[in-house]
Amino acid sequence: MPANQPYFVTTPIYYVNDLPHLGHAYTTVACDVLARFMRLDGRRVKFLTGSDEHGQKVEQSARAAGIAPQEFCDRISPAWQEMTRLLNISNDDFIRTTEPRHVRGVEALWRELERRGEIYLGRFSGWYSVRDEAFYDENELIEGPQGRRIAPTGAEVEWLEEDNYFFRLSAWQDRLLAWYEANPDAIAPRSRRNEVISFVKSGLRDLSISRTSFSWGIPVPGNPKHVIYVWLDALINYITALGYPETSDGEFATFWPADLHMVGKDILRFHTVYWHAFLLAAGLEPPRRVFAHGWWTAEGQKMSKSLGNFITPKELVDRYGLDPVRYFLLRELPFGNDGDFSHRAIVGRLNGDLANDFGNLAQRVLAMINRNCDAAVPEPGEFTEADEELLGEVRELLARVRPQIAEQAFHLALETIWRVVSAANRYVDEQAPWALRRGDPARMRTVLYALAETLRHLAILTQPFVPDAAAKLLDQLAVLQGQRDFAALTASPLQPGTRLPRPEGIFPRFVEAEAAAGN
Ligand code: MSP
Repeated sequence: MPANQPYFVTTPIYYVNDLPHLGHAYTTVACDVLARFMRLDGRRVKFLTGSDEHGQKVEQSARAAGIAPQEFCDRISPAWQEMTRLLNISNDDFIRTTEPRHVRGVEALWRELERRGEIYLGRFSGWYSVRDEAFYDENELIEGPQGRRIAPTGAEVEWLEEDNYFFRLSAWQDRLLAWYEANPDAIAPRSRRNEVISFVKSGLRDLSISRTSFSWGIPVPGNPKHVIYVWLDALINYITALGYPETSDGEFATFWPADLHMVGKDILRFHTVYWHAFLLAAGLEPPRRVFAHGWWTAEGQKMSKSLGNFITPKELVDRYGLDPVRYFLLRELPFGNDGDFSHRAIVGRLNGDLANDFGNLAQRVLAMINRNCDAAVPEPGEFTEADEELLGEVRELLARVRPQIAEQAFHLALETIWRVVSAANRYVDEQAPWALRRGDPARMRTVLYALAETLRHLAILTQPFVPDAAAKLLDQLAVLQGQRDFAALTASPLQPGTRLPRPEGIFPRFVEAEAAAGN
């Protein structure tokens, strides 16, 4: 991979009618890990997130709050920006769909589709769900409570009849299928790709892309009685943030097509059928990859305010600390699967993987160096087979983890890294450096050097997941700021004699009694 190869990763833009919860934190943290990983790997990264501010749902929420929609958005959007700070998210940009840079790009794309004959005016009649901001076919609806028909997502639907502009989606069926065929890794996981392909094969109808029965949106260029359908508006954020309609230079030229749109499974169709068709129809390339992750339930149930099991990122971070939450979210579930959040599970990971396995290893090694090696990186002698075996595993880690991250298999990447944590713990027990202090101090120094080098690798590689804790560990190993990227793994081994600061724990244990008191 050439150095500085661009990498563009995006989260969905979040609806401002809602406040952030665990599910949103999940999507955003996953993207942050990718962005940090790629930066450390020498790539030029753009990491985009933002807020989705138009549409009927937001208009209704504003009305319920008794304020104008723009004011409502201005009030709620900061909560989403706050979430990125709370979770230590390294996004390079935050786009709001009410910003002029976005509106201008949406208008331009609309005109481009119109110019290419992809849009026509017609009459819509069919089912619409405001909660999902989605149109549903009659045959997609399922039976809900009291025999009422509802969307497959469980959302209420209403019958809609109005004059709408349509996008000629039906004309794109074969070209979409050909594109999926030619780009086998563009939709992941595989089961989701199959789902999309069978949806498209079952036949596509032209898509309504404007609304007339409310007004909170971007007016259709040339016919302001209509506002642009909120999903068309929202999807375009991925290119307006790159400066679209300027395509020949600037960020668009560098970063498009996106390397990855990360989305939840509920919004897959928008991101792989509609979005791809819009882009192809406008003469633009679809994103290289869309990954649809699973959904979290909370203690067995769908999260909802009314059930009182709505988990906010803030309460988790306050209780467990940020890095444990980030680690847990990506370690606990095979990425792509659904899962259930439980406090027991997070405490188990925190005290097991983090405090016991990794934290203790670091603490033991650094404390021994501090006490027995004059608080400086020890000078190693010749390495034995056991030392070489551990160091060999450590040096192979990046090559093992890189393809796992490229496939968004975060849980596997962490498992791979923690296998080395376990190997290092076994090595400490076997080599028993504390017992060598008197009889063979030179051997003790060699063992402690191998362990310190192992810790340096582990700290550098865990930075994307647990950035604060990893930074703390790198500080304790006196690793310079400029020597913390992946190139430094081999280029900058620890220098014997480097003075080390006093060691401090990096992952404090979580004590259950405190949790009970906090309840
Ligand atoms: N505004 C649209 C996205 C437009 S992108 C052009 C939207 N917003 S959302 O705020 O409702 O959802 C944003 C993301 O949060 C989605 O990827 C969704 O899957 C994710 N999650 C919402 N609840 C979730 C869980 N309970 N669990 C995991 N992810 C969940 O959709």
